[in-house]
Amino acid sequence: MKVIILPTAEEVGDHAARAIIRGVASGTISVLGVATGSSPLPVYRALAERGGANLRTLTAYALDEYVGLPGTHPQSYRSVINAEVTVPLGLDPDRVHVPDGSAVDIEAACVSYESAISDSGGIDLQILGIGSDGHIGFNEPTSSFASRTRVKTLAPQTRADNARFFDSIDAVPIHCITQGLGTIMEARQILLVARGARKAIAVAAAIEGPITSMCPASILQMHPSVTVVLDAAAASMLRLTEYYNYVAANLPIWQR
Ligand code: F6R
Repeated sequence: MKVIILPTAEEVGDHAARAIIRGVASGTISVLGVATGSSPLPVYRALAERGGANLRTLTAYALDEYVGLPGTHPQSYRSVINAEVTVPLGLDPDRVHVPDGSAVDIEAACVSYESAISDSGGIDLQILGIGSDGHIGFNEPTSSFASRTRVKTLAPQTRADNARFFDSIDAVPIHCITQGLGTIMEARQILLVARGARKAIAVAAAIEGPITSMCPASILQMHPSVTVVLDAAAASMLRLTEYYNYVAANLPIWQR
C-alpha cells in the first residue's frame, strides 16, 4: 500500500487527479470506479480542470446508490454522479452506470450490475472514500470480504454522517445497493482518498490495524495496488507517518 500525505484537500485532489490522468493517457485506465460523498470532490474538480478531452472516452461505474430514492432526487447518487462527474468531465451519460435503487426486482438489478462491470472488462481504477466506521462503498462493519453487489442496511452512524446532505436524518434512506468488498477487490488499482480529522481513526485502522471485517477498508491491505492519498488531518492517527514520507521522498526513478 502506498500512503501519500499532503497538507491540504486541494493537494489531495490534485495528486489523485494527476495519477488518473496519467493512467488514462497511457491506456491503463478506461473503466473508472467512482465514489460519491465529499471525499472525492477535490479529485473530480481537479480532473475537470486538468483532464481535457482524453477523459471523455471513460466508462464509469458508481460504487453505490440509495434504495428508494428516485434517480431524479438531487441526493440520489445517480444525480450526484451526474452533477459532479458526468457533466464536468464531459463523459457520455450512456457509459456512466449507477446501481438502480428503484428497480422493482432489486436483487436482479444487483446481479445485472455485476454483469455490466464484467462485460466492460472490469474496473481499471476504483476511487474510494472511507466512512468514519471504516466502510468502503456502503460495506458496513462485519460485511463479508467475499461480498458482491447487494442490498445493505446503512449503519445508524452512516445515516447520521450523511444527514448533512438531507433536510433531516429521517430523510436519509435506510437501505442501499453497494458493490461488495469482493467486487471492489477485483478492481485492478484502487485509489482511496480521505480528508479531515473525522476520518483519522478509520484511516489508521484501515492501513495499520488488523485485517478485520470490523473495519471493512482493512481488506485493502490484501490488494496488490492501492494508493491512499490523505490530508494531514486524516493522517493524524497513523504511527508510521515518517516512514510514508520517507518512501514518498525516495521513490525509485521509474515511479516518479
Ligand atoms: C460513497 C461511498 C462511501 C463514502 C464514505 C465517505 O459512494 O461509497 O463509502 O465514500 O461514506 O463519505 P464522505 O466522503 O462524504 O465522508
